[in-house]
Amino acid sequence: MSKISKPTQIIILGGGGDLTRRKLLPALFDLYMRDKLPQEFHIIGQARSEKTNAEYREFVEASLAQHVTMKETKERTLKNFCSNISYVAGNFSEPELYQDLENELSIFDSKHKRANRLFYLAVPPKFYGEIFKDLKESGVGSEAEDCWTHILVEKPFGNNLATAKELDIELADLYREDQIFRIDHYLAKEAVQNVLSFRFANRLMQAPWNKDSIESVAITMTETIDVGGRSNFYEGVGALRDVGQNHLLQLLALTAMPEPSEFTVDAIRRARADTLEALVPLDINSLEKSVLRAQYSGYKTHEHTSGTSETETYFELKAEINLPEWEGVPFYIRSGKALDKAEVSIVVHFKDVASGMFDTQNCLTSGNMLTLTISPEQKISITLNSKAPGLGFQLEQRTLSFTCEKGDSEIKNSYEKVLYDAVVGDQTLFTTTEEVLAAWKFITPIIEAWAKIPLHSYEKGTKGPEQTIIS
Ligand code: BG6
Repeated sequence: MSKISKPTQIIILGGGGDLTRRKLLPALFDLYMRDKLPQEFHIIGQARSEKTNAEYREFVEASLAQHVTMKETKERTLKNFCSNISYVAGNFSEPELYQDLENELSIFDSKHKRANRLFYLAVPPKFYGEIFKDLKESGVGSEAEDCWTHILVEKPFGNNLATAKELDIELADLYREDQIFRIDHYLAKEAVQNVLSFRFANRLMQAPWNKDSIESVAITMTETIDVGGRSNFYEGVGALRDVGQNHLLQLLALTAMPEPSEFTVDAIRRARADTLEALVPLDINSLEKSVLRAQYSGYKTHEHTSGTSETETYFELKAEINLPEWEGVPFYIRSGKALDKAEVSIVVHFKDVASGMFDTQNCLTSGNMLTLTISPEQKISITLNSKAPGLGFQLEQRTLSFTCEKGDSEIKNSYEKVLYDAVVGDQTLFTTTEEVLAAWKFITPIIEAWAKIPLHSYEKGTKGPEQTIIS
């Protein structure tokens, strides 16, 4: 607790939005319940509409009632939590907002000396540049002696390589790298952090983790929900930008990266960046062999979509990594909305054994398969060849699996980890500018060439389009 003993103010810009309601407020409340928020803290929600503090607290209570399990005994705790919350109304483009924020912040500062300030930008990315600048220039985002200011930015960070670079330059002019926390909430998921322990804390996994033993890797994120409620954001963005450029490439980086020399922020982030930088650019002239895109039928009828929309709600991609240990190993990435099931997993297909002993017996062996399931449950399973019971000698496949322990210590909402780490200043699970740019460098040429390949169609609630590039 010593690390967060200093008073801290958390300012959520976009404090009335969906992310705040569904993820951030429940995460902050859970941290409060676990005693993991600074002892003296203050949360300010900001949005455009006029509201009193009491009205905003009602909004907070209603959000928490929907997203955390409310037992009667928590009523009092909830009231105490809410008493640390206030509200400021205003527009990002108007200087009065920053003045009003400063006034609200100084009320808390006057009681606790100057406190740390954590700004969470839960706003559409088009406002990022303006907010970074106005926060700094108004003095609201400056640092006082012995106090830090941290800026948390949601993805997408830019919408292609050029805009990500511009944003990065603007940000670097105003804040130090150790003040900037670029969020990829997938990195903060328990099951995703477990990829590192599974790979590097088990000798069993170390030796075969390369092209000699691995045939291919499939990284999948399927969702049952469509984009109806979010078509305003999704139209023109599409699946590859929404989850491919960030979450899925980060899963690839964790799966393929060489072991960091030490367990430090820099070494881990460098290893992820090195892997992303080693992605082999796809050949734009034969893009159809390595990328597939599709849209579910009915997408064009959503409120904010155009009747001629080419936005993909599904994609498949075959990536290769230019590192000696991964030469020739395909990494298949696949994601889609409105599919038949919701699942996130990393499946490692091992090569079949080279030995001929079983061939002479006419026993078929199969390559082992390791599945790291990220959601809906955190599970690890391995298929193995085993002798089928009986008088003869035949082989059969058996699966060894376990779900990672659940219980009160499990963090179900990854934003809890995001917020906690941003308060204690640990950037390990936040992306560096190198990672963001390397991912955009790989993705941007594909997006620019999208029109060259067909946009397939699929029905909602199915496995996706009939076509596939995954072999
Ligand atoms: C977000 C995407 O980053 O991740 C959404 O914008 C997607 O489209 C979401 O649904 C999935 O996150 P999770 O944690 O629910 O798997």
